[in-house]
Amino acid sequence: MTHNTTANWTKRWTFILAATGSAVGLGNIWKFPYITGEYGGGAFVIVYLACILAVGIPVMIAEIMAGRAARANPVDAMLDLSAQAGAPKIWSIVGLGGVIGGLMILMFYSVVAGWALDYSWQSLTAAYHESSADTIEANFGALTGSFSRQWFWQTLFVVFTGGVIAAGVTGGIGRAVEILMPLLMLFLLGLLIYSWSVGEVGPSLSFMFTPDFSKLSTEAVLVALGHAFFTLSLGMGAIMAYGAYMPGEHSIGKTVMLIGALDTGIALVAGLAIFPLVFANGLEPSSGPGLMFVSLPIAFGQMPGGVIFGSVFFILVSIAALSSSISLIEPGVAWLEGHGIPRKLGTLLAAGIGWLGGIACIYSGDFFNALDHVTANYILPLGGLLIAIFVGFVLSRDRVKQEVAFESERYFALWHFALRYVAPLGILVVFLHSVGVI
Ligand code: PFF
Ligand code: NA
Repeated sequence: MTHNTTANWTKRWTFILAATGSAVGLGNIWKFPYITGEYGGGAFVIVYLACILAVGIPVMIAEIMAGRAARANPVDAMLDLSAQAGAPKIWSIVGLGGVIGGLMILMFYSVVAGWALDYSWQSLTAAYHESSADTIEANFGALTGSFSRQWFWQTLFVVFTGGVIAAGVTGGIGRAVEILMPLLMLFLLGLLIYSWSVGEVGPSLSFMFTPDFSKLSTEAVLVALGHAFFTLSLGMGAIMAYGAYMPGEHSIGKTVMLIGALDTGIALVAGLAIFPLVFANGLEPSSGPGLMFVSLPIAFGQMPGGVIFGSVFFILVSIAALSSSISLIEPGVAWLEGHGIPRKLGTLLAAGIGWLGGIACIYSGDFFNALDHVTANYILPLGGLLIAIFVGFVLSRDRVKQEVAFESERYFALWHFALRYVAPLGILVVFLHSVGVI
């Protein structure tokens, strides 16, 4: 088969690093803290963690398994696997939906990544050094009000994304994350220590971990589920595309637990670092997308060595965004490549669409919000639902069992049950609840 991938990440860590690079991104450091703030804290965090465990982890195992079993891009993987199982070709719509969903996410993701680049520059030039909290808050408004600044950095980010993708799978993606992910983690921990030494730790802990379920809105539950998909890069074939490069002898179960733990850990550490600063500086936890871009510069502006620390931090966040954004267009590019369209041309096409959509997002906050809302809350969970049903019911139990190759029969049974019943019913219940049916 011509579309089957020949690239294979044989180095033991490459798959784990690339998949972690995809998962860890703006979703953890930018989005998780601000939606936690917006949806009331503790109860939201608990629902989110439950969604990661009961829905995200089982679906991630299924996605990697499907990609590795077919050794193809998500569209052709779904085609091949359904043909082998005697199921209709229409299942490939899951892959196609992912290709489109990835481009839709890239549109607003690249704008936020552009903000991170702008703040890298602001940090390097000490633009907010020793500024008041009010000034720093106004800075963020100035950025989101400036078309040319956002356009410049968003363009640069899309060019970086395209560059890594065009450079190819092994060299491009694998190498970039190897050093930078651990470094990001180190800096987040440094930030956490600083934040806890100057900020309001008590109120932050009770805000993040004391659940008040009476405050949990219907929408909050939908957002928590959607974010579980978004943060783990699930439901759109990104992880399936990477799974196609995973060496056969590696344990999917262990890998997924590791990625899930790292992604969740980084989100929680980001929240634990940001909220003490939010409370100490009289900011509102519910102040929205600007939360990290206001609270962190306040800290960097005051701490000793803040110019350097802030610069490195925002550069690392930008790189984390980059290692995620490449996985947004990899499914589409790999699909086109499998059908005779050269990688560089496919990259140009995908990046071009993302770039144009990003410009629309800069013009229209409504468009930005709509893309964020529709992809995270509907497209990804729907994709995940279909993947769970496909791997859980359409593929034969024996085939699946052999492909995932769990170390123990008990783990397999547990996972298969979660995939067939817990994940699909969970997603359905949240969907039906959000439209008011139940
Ligand atoms: N997981 C990424 C984050 O948390 O920032 C975002 C993302 C990347 C979502 C790739 C979906 C995806 F396919
Ligand atoms: Na994430």
